[in-house]
Amino acid sequence: MNVYDSERMSDSLNKTHNLVSVPDKADAILLNTCHIREKAAEKVYSEIGKFTDLKNKNKNLKIIIAGCVAQAEGKAMLQRQPIIDAIIGPQMYQTLPSILSNKFSDKKIFLDFDEEEKFAKLGWKRNNALISSFITIQEGCDKFCSFCVVPFTRGAEYSRSLEDIVKEAESLSQKGCKEIILLGQNVNAYHGKDKNNIQINLTKLILELEKIKKLDRISYTTSHPKDMDQELIDLHASSKKLNPYLHLPVQSGSDIILKNMNRKYTVKEYLNIIEKIRKKVPNIALSSDFIVGFPGETKKDFKNTLRLVNEVKFAHAYSFKYSKRIGTKANRINCSLSEEEKNERLQELQNLLKNQKKSFNSGFIGKEVDVLLKGKGKKDNQFRGVTKWMQTTIFESNKSEIKGKVKLKINSAFDNCLMGELI
Ligand code: 5AD
Ligand code: SF4
Repeated sequence: MNVYDSERMSDSLNKTHNLVSVPDKADAILLNTCHIREKAAEKVYSEIGKFTDLKNKNKNLKIIIAGCVAQAEGKAMLQRQPIIDAIIGPQMYQTLPSILSNKFSDKKIFLDFDEEEKFAKLGWKRNNALISSFITIQEGCDKFCSFCVVPFTRGAEYSRSLEDIVKEAESLSQKGCKEIILLGQNVNAYHGKDKNNIQINLTKLILELEKIKKLDRISYTTSHPKDMDQELIDLHASSKKLNPYLHLPVQSGSDIILKNMNRKYTVKEYLNIIEKIRKKVPNIALSSDFIVGFPGETKKDFKNTLRLVNEVKFAHAYSFKYSKRIGTKANRINCSLSEEEKNERLQELQNLLKNQKKSFNSGFIGKEVDVLLKGKGKKDNQFRGVTKWMQTTIFESNKSEIKGKVKLKINSAFDNCLMGELI
Protein backbone atom coordinates (compact mmCIF):
# COMPACT_ATOMS: atom_id res chain seq x y z
CA MET A 1 0.00 0.00 0.00
CA ASN A 2 2.93 2.33 0.56
CA VAL A 3 3.91 1.85 -3.09
CA TYR A 4 0.38 2.87 -4.10
CA ASP A 5 0.36 5.82 -1.69
CA SER A 6 3.70 7.05 -3.00
CA GLU A 7 2.41 6.86 -6.60
CA ARG A 8 -0.68 8.88 -5.62
CA MET A 9 1.36 11.53 -3.80
CA SER A 10 3.66 11.79 -6.78
CA ASP A 11 0.61 12.07 -9.09
CA SER A 12 -0.80 14.88 -6.96
CA LEU A 13 2.34 16.96 -7.60
CA ASN A 14 2.65 16.35 -11.33
CA LYS A 15 1.60 19.93 -12.25
CA THR A 16 4.12 21.57 -9.93
CA HIS A 17 7.04 19.18 -9.51
CA ASN A 18 9.23 16.75 -11.42
CA LEU A 19 10.54 13.50 -10.02
CA VAL A 20 14.33 13.38 -9.75
CA SER A 21 16.43 10.27 -9.48
CA VAL A 22 18.73 11.23 -6.58
CA PRO A 23 18.11 13.18 -3.35
CA ASP A 24 20.85 15.78 -3.97
CA LYS A 25 18.97 17.05 -7.05
CA ALA A 26 15.73 17.51 -5.13
CA ASP A 27 14.25 20.60 -3.49
CA ALA A 28 11.81 18.38 -1.62
CA ILE A 29 12.34 14.89 -0.25
CA LEU A 30 9.38 12.78 0.73
CA LEU A 31 10.01 9.65 2.76
CA ASN A 32 7.15 7.18 2.99
CA THR A 33 7.41 4.95 6.04
CA CYS A 34 6.19 1.65 7.52
CA HIS A 35 5.55 1.01 11.21
CA ILE A 36 4.43 -2.63 11.07
CA ARG A 37 7.60 -3.99 12.70
CA GLU A 38 10.35 -2.30 14.71
CA LYS A 39 13.02 -2.93 12.07
CA ALA A 40 11.10 -1.03 9.38
CA ALA A 41 10.38 1.88 11.74
CA GLU A 42 14.01 2.22 12.92
CA LYS A 43 15.26 2.35 9.32
CA VAL A 44 13.43 5.66 8.90
CA TYR A 45 15.68 7.50 11.37
CA SER A 46 18.88 6.33 9.70
CA GLU A 47 17.45 7.40 6.33
CA ILE A 48 16.55 10.88 7.64
CA GLY A 49 20.06 11.20 9.10
CA LYS A 50 21.46 10.83 5.58
CA PHE A 51 19.69 14.05 4.53
CA THR A 52 21.30 16.25 7.22
CA ASP A 53 24.19 17.33 4.97
CA LEU A 54 21.84 18.14 2.11
CA LYS A 55 19.68 20.27 4.41
CA ASN A 56 22.74 22.12 5.73
CA LYS A 57 23.79 22.92 2.15
CA ASN A 58 20.32 23.95 1.03
CA LYS A 59 18.15 25.61 3.68
CA ASN A 60 15.19 25.65 1.24
CA LEU A 61 15.20 21.87 0.95
CA LYS A 62 11.96 20.47 2.37
CA ILE A 63 12.06 17.13 4.17
CA ILE A 64 8.67 15.54 4.60
CA ILE A 65 7.90 12.29 6.39
CA ALA A 66 4.74 10.44 5.38
CA GLY A 67 3.23 7.10 6.35
CA CYS A 68 2.61 5.11 9.47
CA VAL A 69 5.81 5.99 11.35
CA ALA A 70 4.80 9.63 10.90
CA GLN A 71 1.34 8.81 12.26
CA ALA A 72 2.62 6.86 15.26
CA GLU A 73 5.65 8.92 16.27
CA GLY A 74 4.88 12.32 14.72
CA LYS A 75 5.77 14.78 17.48
CA ALA A 76 8.63 12.68 18.83
CA MET A 77 10.09 12.49 15.32
CA LEU A 78 10.21 16.27 15.05
CA GLN A 79 12.05 16.46 18.38
CA ARG A 80 14.49 13.70 17.43
CA GLN A 81 15.11 15.07 13.92
CA PRO A 82 14.58 18.87 13.76
CA ILE A 83 15.50 18.91 10.04
CA ILE A 84 12.01 17.56 9.28
CA ASP A 85 9.71 20.21 7.75
CA ALA A 86 6.42 18.33 7.87
CA ILE A 87 4.90 15.10 9.12
CA ILE A 88 1.94 13.64 7.16
CA GLY A 89 -0.11 10.68 8.36
CA PRO A 90 -1.53 8.15 5.87
CA GLN A 91 -4.96 9.83 5.81
CA MET A 92 -3.64 13.32 5.02
CA TYR A 93 -1.76 12.84 1.75
CA GLN A 94 -4.09 15.28 0.00
CA THR A 95 -2.37 18.11 1.94
CA LEU A 96 1.00 17.49 0.27
CA PRO A 97 0.60 20.00 -2.63
CA SER A 98 -0.45 22.74 -0.18
CA ILE A 99 2.44 21.93 2.18
CA LEU A 100 4.94 22.18 -0.66
CA SER A 101 3.49 25.48 -1.85
CA ASN A 102 3.79 26.88 1.70
CA LYS A 103 0.04 27.31 2.28
CA PHE A 104 0.33 26.32 5.97
CA SER A 105 2.81 28.83 7.40
CA ASP A 106 4.10 27.25 10.62
CA LYS A 107 2.02 24.11 10.77
CA LYS A 108 4.21 21.03 10.63
CA ILE A 109 2.05 18.13 11.78
CA PHE A 110 -0.81 16.66 9.69
CA LEU A 111 -2.17 13.58 11.40
CA ASP A 112 -5.99 13.72 11.20
CA PHE A 113 -8.07 10.81 9.94
CA ASP A 114 -10.24 11.87 7.02
CA GLU A 115 -10.22 9.09 4.43
CA GLU A 116 -13.26 10.47 2.64
CA GLU A 117 -11.62 13.81 2.01
CA LYS A 118 -8.33 12.15 1.13
CA PHE A 119 -9.76 10.01 -1.68
CA ALA A 120 -12.07 12.81 -2.84
CA LYS A 121 -9.13 15.20 -3.20
CA LEU A 122 -6.71 12.69 -4.69
CA GLY A 123 -9.46 11.71 -7.15
CA TRP A 124 -9.37 8.73 -9.49
CA LYS A 125 -7.29 10.05 -12.37
CA ARG A 126 -3.94 8.29 -12.67
CA ASN A 127 -1.08 9.83 -14.60
CA ASN A 128 1.03 6.74 -14.96
CA ALA A 129 0.02 3.12 -15.27
CA LEU A 130 2.14 0.03 -14.93
CA ILE A 131 1.08 -3.13 -16.74
CA SER A 132 0.28 -4.43 -13.25
CA SER A 133 -1.00 -1.62 -11.04
CA PHE A 134 -2.31 -1.28 -7.50
CA ILE A 135 -5.60 0.34 -6.50
CA THR A 136 -6.45 0.87 -2.84
CA ILE A 137 -10.14 0.05 -2.39
CA GLN A 138 -10.26 -0.23 1.39
CA GLU A 139 -8.12 1.14 4.17
CA GLY A 140 -7.76 0.68 7.89
CA CYS A 141 -8.87 -2.15 10.09
CA ASP A 142 -11.38 -2.87 12.85
CA LYS A 143 -10.02 -6.31 13.73
CA PHE A 144 -7.48 -5.31 16.40
CA CYS A 145 -5.20 -8.34 16.30
CA SER A 146 -3.28 -8.05 19.54
CA PHE A 147 0.15 -7.68 17.85
CA CYS A 148 -0.77 -5.15 15.17
CA VAL A 149 -0.45 -1.35 14.92
CA VAL A 150 -2.56 -0.97 11.77
CA PRO A 151 -5.86 -0.06 13.49
CA PHE A 152 -3.98 2.77 15.24
CA THR A 153 -1.92 4.04 12.29
CA ARG A 154 -4.35 3.55 9.39
CA GLY A 155 -7.53 4.05 11.43
CA ALA A 156 -10.95 2.44 11.17
CA GLU A 157 -12.10 0.44 8.15
CA TYR A 158 -13.04 2.67 5.24
CA SER A 159 -14.18 1.54 1.77
CA ARG A 160 -14.07 3.69 -1.37
CA SER A 161 -17.13 3.91 -3.60
CA LEU A 162 -17.66 1.54 -6.52
CA GLU A 163 -17.77 4.45 -8.97
CA ASP A 164 -14.47 5.88 -7.79
CA ILE A 165 -12.70 2.52 -8.06
CA VAL A 166 -14.14 1.68 -11.49
CA LYS A 167 -13.09 5.10 -12.82
CA GLU A 168 -9.58 4.62 -11.47
CA ALA A 169 -9.36 1.13 -13.02
CA GLU A 170 -10.63 2.47 -16.37
CA SER A 171 -8.11 5.29 -16.24
CA LEU A 172 -5.31 2.75 -15.65
CA SER A 173 -6.50 0.36 -18.34
CA GLN A 174 -6.63 3.18 -20.92
CA LYS A 175 -2.97 3.78 -20.17
CA GLY A 176 -1.95 0.16 -20.74
CA CYS A 177 -2.60 -1.56 -17.41
CA LYS A 178 -3.60 -5.23 -17.86
CA GLU A 179 -3.69 -6.38 -14.24
CA ILE A 180 -5.04 -4.61 -11.19
CA ILE A 181 -4.27 -5.63 -7.66
CA LEU A 182 -6.97 -4.41 -5.29
CA LEU A 183 -5.49 -3.37 -1.98
CA GLY A 184 -6.74 -3.11 1.56
CA GLN A 185 -5.51 -4.08 5.00
CA ASN A 186 -8.74 -6.08 5.16
CA VAL A 187 -9.61 -6.13 1.51
CA ASN A 188 -12.30 -8.82 1.68
CA ALA A 189 -14.17 -6.77 4.29
CA TYR A 190 -14.74 -4.22 1.48
CA HIS A 191 -18.19 -2.61 1.82
CA GLY A 192 -18.29 0.42 -0.47
CA LYS A 193 -21.41 2.07 -1.86
CA ASP A 194 -22.68 1.86 -5.44
CA LYS A 195 -24.32 4.72 -7.40
CA ASN A 196 -27.64 4.15 -5.60
CA ASN A 197 -25.95 4.32 -2.21
CA ILE A 198 -26.37 0.59 -1.72
CA GLN A 199 -23.57 -1.23 0.05
CA ILE A 200 -21.73 -3.80 -2.07
CA ASN A 201 -19.12 -6.43 -1.22
CA LEU A 202 -15.79 -7.40 -2.83
CA THR A 203 -17.43 -10.01 -5.09
CA LYS A 204 -19.79 -7.40 -6.60
CA LEU A 205 -16.92 -4.96 -7.04
CA ILE A 206 -14.80 -7.57 -8.87
CA LEU A 207 -17.77 -8.44 -11.12
CA GLU A 208 -18.04 -4.76 -12.09
CA LEU A 209 -14.30 -4.46 -12.75
CA GLU A 210 -14.38 -7.55 -14.96
CA LYS A 211 -16.49 -5.55 -17.42
CA ILE A 212 -13.49 -3.37 -18.30
CA LYS A 213 -12.56 -5.00 -21.61
CA LYS A 214 -8.85 -4.17 -21.70
CA LEU A 215 -8.23 -5.59 -18.22
CA ASP A 216 -7.05 -9.21 -18.26
CA ARG A 217 -6.34 -9.96 -14.63
CA ILE A 218 -7.64 -9.02 -11.18
CA SER A 219 -6.16 -9.87 -7.79
CA TYR A 220 -6.84 -8.71 -4.25
CA THR A 221 -4.77 -8.57 -1.08
CA THR A 222 -4.73 -8.85 1.98
CA SER A 223 -7.69 -10.94 3.10
CA HIS A 224 -8.75 -11.94 6.58
CA PRO A 225 -10.00 -15.56 7.00
CA LYS A 226 -13.05 -14.32 8.92
CA ASP A 227 -14.27 -12.36 5.88
CA MET A 228 -13.66 -15.11 3.31
CA ASP A 229 -17.31 -15.74 2.38
CA GLN A 230 -18.72 -18.45 0.10
CA GLU A 231 -19.65 -15.90 -2.60
CA LEU A 232 -16.01 -14.85 -2.96
CA ILE A 233 -14.80 -18.45 -2.94
CA ASP A 234 -17.33 -19.29 -5.68
CA LEU A 235 -16.20 -16.28 -7.70
CA HIS A 236 -12.72 -17.80 -7.94
CA ALA A 237 -14.26 -20.67 -9.89
CA SER A 238 -16.63 -18.66 -12.10
CA SER A 239 -14.53 -15.57 -12.84
CA LYS A 240 -12.49 -15.39 -16.05
CA LYS A 241 -10.28 -12.60 -14.77
CA LEU A 242 -9.65 -13.34 -11.10
CA ASN A 243 -6.11 -14.71 -10.64
CA PRO A 244 -5.77 -18.22 -9.17
CA TYR A 245 -3.98 -16.71 -6.18
CA LEU A 246 -5.06 -16.07 -2.61
CA HIS A 247 -3.05 -14.41 0.13
CA LEU A 248 -4.77 -15.47 3.34
CA PRO A 249 -2.63 -14.83 6.42
CA VAL A 250 -3.00 -17.47 9.13
CA GLN A 251 -0.21 -16.16 11.45
CA SER A 252 -0.04 -19.33 13.61
CA GLY A 253 -1.12 -22.97 13.60
CA SER A 254 -1.93 -23.04 17.33
CA ASP A 255 -5.46 -22.35 18.57
CA ILE A 256 -4.12 -20.96 21.86
CA ILE A 257 -1.86 -18.48 20.07
CA LEU A 258 -4.59 -17.56 17.56
CA LYS A 259 -6.87 -16.77 20.49
CA ASN A 260 -4.21 -14.65 22.19
CA MET A 261 -3.59 -12.91 18.88
CA ASN A 262 -7.34 -12.14 18.71
CA ARG A 263 -7.48 -13.57 15.19
CA LYS A 264 -11.13 -14.67 15.60
CA TYR A 265 -10.76 -18.11 13.91
CA THR A 266 -9.43 -21.56 14.79
CA VAL A 267 -7.01 -23.75 12.85
CA LYS A 268 -9.93 -25.97 11.86
CA GLU A 269 -11.87 -23.01 10.48
CA TYR A 270 -8.84 -21.85 8.48
CA LEU A 271 -8.29 -25.33 7.04
CA ASN A 272 -11.97 -25.50 6.17
CA ILE A 273 -11.67 -22.36 4.01
CA ILE A 274 -8.58 -23.80 2.30
CA GLU A 275 -10.46 -27.02 1.55
CA LYS A 276 -13.42 -25.11 0.10
CA ILE A 277 -11.28 -22.95 -2.16
CA ARG A 278 -9.13 -25.87 -3.35
CA LYS A 279 -12.28 -27.74 -4.25
CA LYS A 280 -13.27 -24.84 -6.53
CA VAL A 281 -9.77 -24.01 -7.86
CA PRO A 282 -7.47 -27.02 -7.40
CA ASN A 283 -4.34 -25.32 -8.77
CA ILE A 284 -4.73 -22.10 -6.75
CA ALA A 285 -1.52 -20.52 -5.41
CA LEU A 286 -2.04 -20.14 -1.67
CA SER A 287 -0.02 -17.58 0.23
CA SER A 288 0.13 -16.59 3.89
CA ASP A 289 1.78 -14.54 6.64
CA PHE A 290 3.28 -16.11 9.76
CA ILE A 291 4.53 -14.71 13.03
CA VAL A 292 6.93 -16.82 15.12
CA GLY A 293 7.76 -16.15 18.75
CA PHE A 294 4.48 -14.46 19.69
CA PRO A 295 4.54 -14.04 23.53
CA GLY A 296 3.81 -17.38 25.17
CA GLU A 297 4.45 -19.47 22.03
CA THR A 298 5.62 -22.88 23.27
CA LYS A 299 7.54 -25.53 21.30
CA LYS A 300 4.22 -27.36 20.90
CA ASP A 301 2.49 -24.23 19.52
CA PHE A 302 5.30 -23.81 17.01
CA LYS A 303 5.15 -27.49 15.99
CA ASN A 304 1.44 -26.94 15.32
CA THR A 305 2.34 -24.11 12.93
CA LEU A 306 4.71 -26.46 11.08
CA ARG A 307 1.95 -29.06 11.01
CA LEU A 308 -0.50 -26.57 9.45
CA VAL A 309 2.08 -25.58 6.83
CA ASN A 310 2.67 -29.25 6.01
CA GLU A 311 -1.03 -29.78 5.64
CA VAL A 312 -1.82 -26.76 3.46
CA LYS A 313 1.29 -26.59 1.25
CA PHE A 314 1.77 -22.95 0.36
CA ALA A 315 2.92 -21.56 -2.97
CA HIS A 316 4.15 -18.37 -1.38
CA ALA A 317 4.52 -16.90 2.14
CA TYR A 318 5.94 -14.16 4.31
CA SER A 319 7.19 -14.99 7.80
CA PHE A 320 8.34 -12.72 10.57
CA LYS A 321 9.71 -12.76 14.10
CA TYR A 322 7.23 -11.19 16.50
CA SER A 323 8.05 -7.53 17.00
CA LYS A 324 6.84 -5.61 20.09
CA ARG A 325 4.71 -2.63 19.11
CA ILE A 326 3.85 0.10 21.62
CA GLY A 327 0.11 0.58 22.15
CA THR A 328 -0.85 -2.97 21.14
CA LYS A 329 -2.35 -5.45 23.59
CA ALA A 330 0.36 -8.07 23.05
CA ASN A 331 2.96 -5.54 24.14
CA ARG A 332 1.70 -6.03 27.70
CA ILE A 333 2.25 -9.82 27.63
CA ASN A 334 5.61 -10.97 28.99
CA CYS A 335 7.78 -12.84 26.53
CA SER A 336 10.38 -15.23 27.95
CA LEU A 337 11.49 -16.71 24.63
CA SER A 338 15.16 -16.01 23.79
CA GLU A 339 16.15 -14.32 20.52
CA GLU A 340 18.12 -17.45 19.68
CA GLU A 341 15.04 -19.65 20.01
CA LYS A 342 12.97 -17.21 17.92
CA ASN A 343 15.65 -17.19 15.20
CA GLU A 344 15.80 -20.98 15.14
CA ARG A 345 12.03 -21.25 14.80
CA LEU A 346 11.94 -18.67 12.02
CA GLN A 347 14.70 -20.49 10.17
CA GLU A 348 12.94 -23.84 10.45
CA LEU A 349 9.64 -22.38 9.22
CA GLN A 350 11.31 -20.51 6.37
CA ASN A 351 13.15 -23.64 5.20
CA LEU A 352 9.90 -25.54 5.08
CA LEU A 353 8.11 -22.73 3.20
CA LYS A 354 11.02 -22.41 0.77
CA ASN A 355 10.73 -26.10 -0.14
CA GLN A 356 6.99 -25.74 -0.62
CA LYS A 357 7.41 -22.71 -2.88
CA LYS A 358 9.95 -24.63 -4.98
CA SER A 359 7.68 -27.63 -5.14
CA PHE A 360 4.69 -25.50 -6.28
CA ASN A 361 6.82 -23.81 -8.94
CA SER A 362 8.28 -27.14 -10.12
CA GLY A 363 4.79 -28.22 -11.13
CA PHE A 364 5.05 -25.66 -13.96
CA ILE A 365 8.10 -27.19 -15.65
CA GLY A 366 7.25 -28.10 -19.27
CA LYS A 367 4.02 -26.07 -19.16
CA GLU A 368 3.08 -23.02 -21.24
CA VAL A 369 2.13 -19.89 -19.31
CA ASP A 370 1.11 -16.32 -20.12
CA VAL A 371 3.39 -13.74 -18.57
CA LEU A 372 2.82 -10.00 -18.16
CA LEU A 373 6.07 -8.17 -18.84
CA LYS A 374 7.25 -6.07 -15.91
CA GLY A 375 10.72 -5.03 -17.08
CA LYS A 376 14.29 -6.13 -17.62
CA GLY A 377 15.92 -8.93 -15.66
CA LYS A 378 19.29 -8.75 -13.88
CA LYS A 379 21.28 -9.70 -16.97
CA ASP A 380 21.30 -7.57 -20.15
CA ASN A 381 19.31 -9.96 -22.32
CA GLN A 382 16.87 -10.99 -19.59
CA PHE A 383 13.24 -9.95 -19.18
CA ARG A 384 11.03 -10.29 -16.11
CA GLY A 385 7.32 -10.90 -15.93
CA VAL A 386 4.60 -12.34 -13.76
CA THR A 387 2.19 -15.27 -14.19
CA LYS A 388 -1.41 -15.19 -12.97
CA TRP A 389 -0.23 -17.33 -10.01
CA MET A 390 1.96 -14.33 -9.13
CA GLN A 391 5.23 -16.10 -9.91
CA THR A 392 8.12 -13.95 -11.09
CA THR A 393 9.27 -15.40 -14.40
CA ILE A 394 12.55 -14.75 -16.20
CA PHE A 395 13.38 -15.38 -19.86
CA GLU A 396 16.02 -14.35 -22.36
CA SER A 397 15.66 -12.55 -25.67
CA ASN A 398 17.98 -10.60 -27.96
CA LYS A 399 15.30 -7.98 -28.58
CA SER A 400 15.94 -4.60 -26.92
CA GLU A 401 12.36 -4.20 -25.76
CA ILE A 402 9.39 -6.52 -25.27
CA LYS A 403 6.12 -5.22 -23.83
CA GLY A 404 2.70 -6.55 -22.92
CA LYS A 405 1.92 -10.23 -22.65
CA VAL A 406 4.05 -13.14 -23.88
CA LYS A 407 3.72 -16.92 -23.86
CA LEU A 408 6.56 -18.88 -22.31
CA LYS A 409 7.48 -22.50 -21.93
CA ILE A 410 8.80 -23.09 -18.42
CA ASN A 411 12.15 -24.90 -18.27
CA SER A 412 13.21 -24.62 -14.63
CA ALA A 413 11.79 -23.60 -11.28
CA PHE A 414 13.22 -22.18 -8.05
CA ASP A 415 11.62 -21.14 -4.77
CA ASN A 416 11.37 -17.49 -5.86
CA CYS A 417 11.03 -17.65 -9.66
CA LEU A 418 10.46 -19.61 -12.85
CA MET A 419 12.76 -19.57 -15.88
CA GLY A 420 11.34 -20.06 -19.36
CA GLU A 421 11.72 -19.46 -23.06
CA LEU A 422 9.59 -17.51 -25.53
CA ILE A 423 7.25 -19.61 -27.64
N1 5AD B 1 5.36 -8.51 14.64
C1 5AD B 1 5.65 -9.32 13.59
N2 5AD B 1 4.92 -9.36 12.47
C2 5AD B 1 3.83 -8.55 12.40
N3 5AD B 1 2.91 -8.38 11.43
C3 5AD B 1 2.04 -7.44 11.84
N4 5AD B 1 2.37 -6.99 13.07
C4 5AD B 1 3.48 -7.67 13.44
C5 5AD B 1 4.28 -7.67 14.59
N5 5AD B 1 4.01 -6.88 15.65
C6 5AD B 1 2.88 -9.18 10.22
C7 5AD B 1 1.63 -10.07 10.14
C8 5AD B 1 0.80 -9.36 9.10
C9 5AD B 1 1.88 -8.76 8.19
C10 5AD B 1 1.43 -7.66 7.32
O1 5AD B 1 2.85 -8.31 9.09
O2 5AD B 1 2.01 -11.35 9.72
O3 5AD B 1 -0.07 -10.24 8.40
FE1 SF4 C 1 -3.47 -5.91 11.59
FE2 SF4 C 1 -4.42 -7.47 9.61
FE3 SF4 C 1 -5.08 -7.94 12.20
FE4 SF4 C 1 -6.06 -5.79 10.95
S1 SF4 C 1 -6.48 -7.95 10.44
S2 SF4 C 1 -5.22 -5.83 13.03
S3 SF4 C 1 -4.33 -5.20 9.64
S4 SF4 C 1 -3.02 -8.10 11.23
